[in-house]
Amino acid sequence: MSSVPSAWNPDQYNRFAAEREQPFWDLVALLAPADAPVVVDLGCGDGRLTAALHDRSGATSTLGVDSSPSMLAQAGGHQGPGIRFVQADIATWTGEGYDVVLSNAALHWVADHRRVLRQWSEALGPGGQLAVQVPANADHPSHIVLQTLAEEWLGSRAPADPVATNVLAPAAYAELLHELGFASQQVRLQVYGHLLSSRTEVVEWVKGSSLTRFKGVLGPDEFDRFVAEYRRRLEHALGDREPYFYPFKRVLFWGQRPG
Ligand SMILES: C[S@@+](CC[C@H](N)C(=O)[O-])C[C@H]1O[C@@H](n2cnc3c(N)ncnc32)[C@H](O)[C@@H]1O
Repeated sequence: MSSVPSAWNPDQYNRFAAEREQPFWDLVALLAPADAPVVVDLGCGDGRLTAALHDRSGATSTLGVDSSPSMLAQAGGHQGPGIRFVQADIATWTGEGYDVVLSNAALHWVADHRRVLRQWSEALGPGGQLAVQVPANADHPSHIVLQTLAEEWLGSRAPADPVATNVLAPAAYAELLHELGFASQQVRLQVYGHLLSSRTEVVEWVKGSSLTRFKGVLGPDEFDRFVAEYRRRLEHALGDREPYFYPFKRVLFWGQRPG
């Protein structure tokens, strides 16, 4: 696989399920109605939202793709008529004849978005739609502190791009959609404001996502010490604010192929 998302913990990720879910529904709202579409959800996680997408879009068939065994174990519970899940790397995934290729909060785990998005686009038939949501919060202290700590603590052992600086600017995704031949498109940066009970909750948030990149590199004891040091530095950086308002930026983009 192209990254090391080996340590996903669905329960930790879903501690903030409501906050993480809103961008998914904002992304789905970008889709034009389609008649019994064939859908793929790339980086589908635990499959709960894949199943919701299947129902909402009236899909004939929906495929969920993920690399994480722990996420796929949960996704199995959502398998049923028209919905199935496979283990594969979304960085190298290819398909054909899809009406909708959707990816929520997963593209930032892989490098070279231009190459990967070209590949995903090639899976679409005429009139097909690409819809992607990707976090773009690398300039928030929650990510800056993590990046600095990773470099100091791990040096060359640090996972590649732990805070997803690979995410492009919104305008770059717009240009790319144009280059890839999408006839219509929508691209936006949206700030989701999350009111967390304390600044420590930011650590719990990051434990469900970016920090999972470190579990595969550090052993359990060292991981706990790493998180403790991250918490200490982040609390210092964020100051003494309770509740803590966590602004989280995301890029949402959608394009539709000519019919
Ligand atoms: C933040 S979760 C989002 C899950 C789901 N889309 C949702 O919105 O609930 C990111 C998911 O991407 C998956 N992922 C990361 N890199 C991947 C890769 N290279 N290939 C396949 N899946 C990957 C992870 O295993 C994880 O389940």
